[in-house]
Amino acid sequence: MTIRETRADGGASQWLALIEHIGGGKVVGGARYLHLSAAPAELVDAVRAAVAAVGGPADGFNVLKLVLDAPRLSLLNYPSYFELAFPLLADSWTLDLAAGTCDHRSYPAGRNPPVLHRKELLLAPDHPRRAEFAALTAAAEGHALFANALTIGHRNQWEALVRAKGLRVDGHALVALENPEATATVLRHRTAMARRALSTPMQALWRHGYLAAGNTVFDYGCGRGDDLAALASHGVEARGWDPYFRPEAGRDESDVVNLGFVLNVIEDPGERREALARAYGLARKVLAVSALLGGRAAEERHLAYGDGVLTSRSTFQKYFGHEELGEYIAGALGREPVSVGPGLFFVFRRDEDEQDFLEGRQRSSGRYGVMPTTPARPVVERERAARAARPKSPTRWEKGAALVEDFWRVCLELGRVPREGEFARLGELTREVASAPVVLRRLTEERGGEALAAARARRMGDLSVFLGLNMFERRRSAGSWGARAQVDLREFWGSYPKATEAGQALLFSLRDAKTIAAAGATAAAQGFGWLVEGESLQVDGRLVNELPPALRVYLGCAGKLYGEVQGADVVKLHIGSGKVSLMRYDDYEGSAIPLLVERVKVDLRRQQVSYYRYERGGEFEPQPLYMKSRYMHPAMEGYAGQRGFDEGLEAAAEAAGVDWGGYGPPVEALRGVLAGMTAPAGMRVMGG
Ligand SMILES: C[S@@+](CC[C@H](N)C(=O)[O-])C[C@H]1O[C@@H](n2cnc3c(N)ncnc32)[C@H](O)[C@@H]1O
Repeated sequence: MTIRETRADGGASQWLALIEHIGGGKVVGGARYLHLSAAPAELVDAVRAAVAAVGGPADGFNVLKLVLDAPRLSLLNYPSYFELAFPLLADSWTLDLAAGTCDHRSYPAGRNPPVLHRKELLLAPDHPRRAEFAALTAAAEGHALFANALTIGHRNQWEALVRAKGLRVDGHALVALENPEATATVLRHRTAMARRALSTPMQALWRHGYLAAGNTVFDYGCGRGDDLAALASHGVEARGWDPYFRPEAGRDESDVVNLGFVLNVIEDPGERREALARAYGLARKVLAVSALLGGRAAEERHLAYGDGVLTSRSTFQKYFGHEELGEYIAGALGREPVSVGPGLFFVFRRDEDEQDFLEGRQRSSGRYGVMPTTPARPVVERERAARAARPKSPTRWEKGAALVEDFWRVCLELGRVPREGEFARLGELTREVASAPVVLRRLTEERGGEALAAARARRMGDLSVFLGLNMFERRRSAGSWGARAQVDLREFWGSYPKATEAGQALLFSLRDAKTIAAAGATAAAQGFGWLVEGESLQVDGRLVNELPPALRVYLGCAGKLYGEVQGADVVKLHIGSGKVSLMRYDDYEGSAIPLLVERVKVDLRRQQVSYYRYERGGEFEPQPLYMKSRYMHPAMEGYAGQRGFDEGLEAAAEAAGVDWGGYGPPVEALRGVLAGMTAPAGMRVMGG
């Protein structure tokens, strides 16, 4: 094969025809691995041609990886192939002949590189050292070192396993360790850090009202007890137990139990499972379970130990993935947990409590006038007319005026007539004034029905979001509606099946990007967020529950993968691509120009979550968020001040000749302008 031929169609078809005839080597995962010394001359020529065509390295590799069913190959560099018993990968170049690309990746020794086993298989059958290497492989098999192929692929895990078997590698032999007891002891208590602020799971419990008076609280594995002290200073009495710091304390059954960052420090899988089961056993209402998240990168920095790693401080860490933690909890407790945030789940004891929680999470406040309302009818004239026709002695209606006001307030809250148990003075109202439906009819005649209709529409919106998400999550507790919701579903939709149909329709409508685009336009027209037509809607995280139902379901689906989207400072709904980005800034509320510290991208189509951190000197530099008022609603506190600042900044930038456009200029270009800006009252100009 010549270079010219290789270039004709990227060389793809000739390449595939050639490698079909190549044998030998080690075949794993749809690829053949061959040491260069075992490659036939025609293959070496073809590789050189391919390298020349796509711009790969002329040398510096010693192993070929030939993908069997695609025109792709990798050139691998295992330094000291013949000296090291288990060589380590240092570089790889992946050549895609169809695409004409070559990607290089290096594997620094300090970053837990991949390790090669059974290296004799890559050599020619008559290679002089093949037998010696095969003997090592046989010895390793005898010690069951290859029993779990999934966990031995990288140096740290591999070396830890060899050590755990009481062995070490000597040349091309495995020999017994002189002092096998010198294995590490796990010091679990060292994981307990002093806290200055309430831990994330406790904050979430607080935010959702579980730490309110009336609930008993228990912190299982409370460490030094800093959460307990912080709660006590806020008047919340909580107890705790820890096997190291508070071994004498009792383990009390409580309404709310927290198991905060405990599972990830227990190296024994049986004990880990037991801790979770015991904590749940104590929880009458809800158990919060959190664990440290981390991926491969986090693991690769440490020595493998059991199903986790041993850190340099002799502590154990099992880095869970978010989904993995959820599945682990469900498997151990036999109850599906609710995702609340990254690495944080709530597990409820009763379906009703879970349902209440989920429903409350979707409730809009109505503070920002989400629902389009028509102007209220003037009531003054009617009141005057009513007063003119008034008989001398006060009517039942007049005598019960305060009671009627109370009743009206509850009606506006519910969007309908309250039932028994929903308004404590219902009997009194019926006795003293009239039946509830009669009173409500008269009130709507006098005051207009708009406010009631708006309340009803808001509640229907909340419930349909909730129904749509139940459908998406296929929740077991979905049928266990609380008393209020049962009445709402019947009253607003006529029946439960009709209500679920509406939820399903809402969920399915999201398959069409036009639904998101239309809902985005509606939201923007109502003052919610910054719409870039056909591309995205970006909105302040505090407004998420006020968005049109379709967008809330869309965000709720992202929440299923990530946790609560309400915790983000700014949420970006991508209109056509099925993605949601959640941004967190440094001191978002206190800065006129906050700096981005974290971005989470949820890809709903691929069901993937990617995390990006922004820090000085890190992979991504913190980015400024200009024009914060764009994302806020005009009725929000602080909007006017922010708007004034943003307009001032834009004008000053223009005067200074700084090009604005898109997301704004880099901070450096604005330094001079920013120096002359005054932040809105109580805020600073820039975060970070
Ligand atoms: C990372 S600390 C977390 C402490 C506290 N929950 C917090 O969030 O600050 C982990 C704690 O788990 C405790 N622990 C270890 N094994 C445990 C077990 N089997 N059951 C309960 N707690 C355990 C350790 O003593 C340690 O204090």
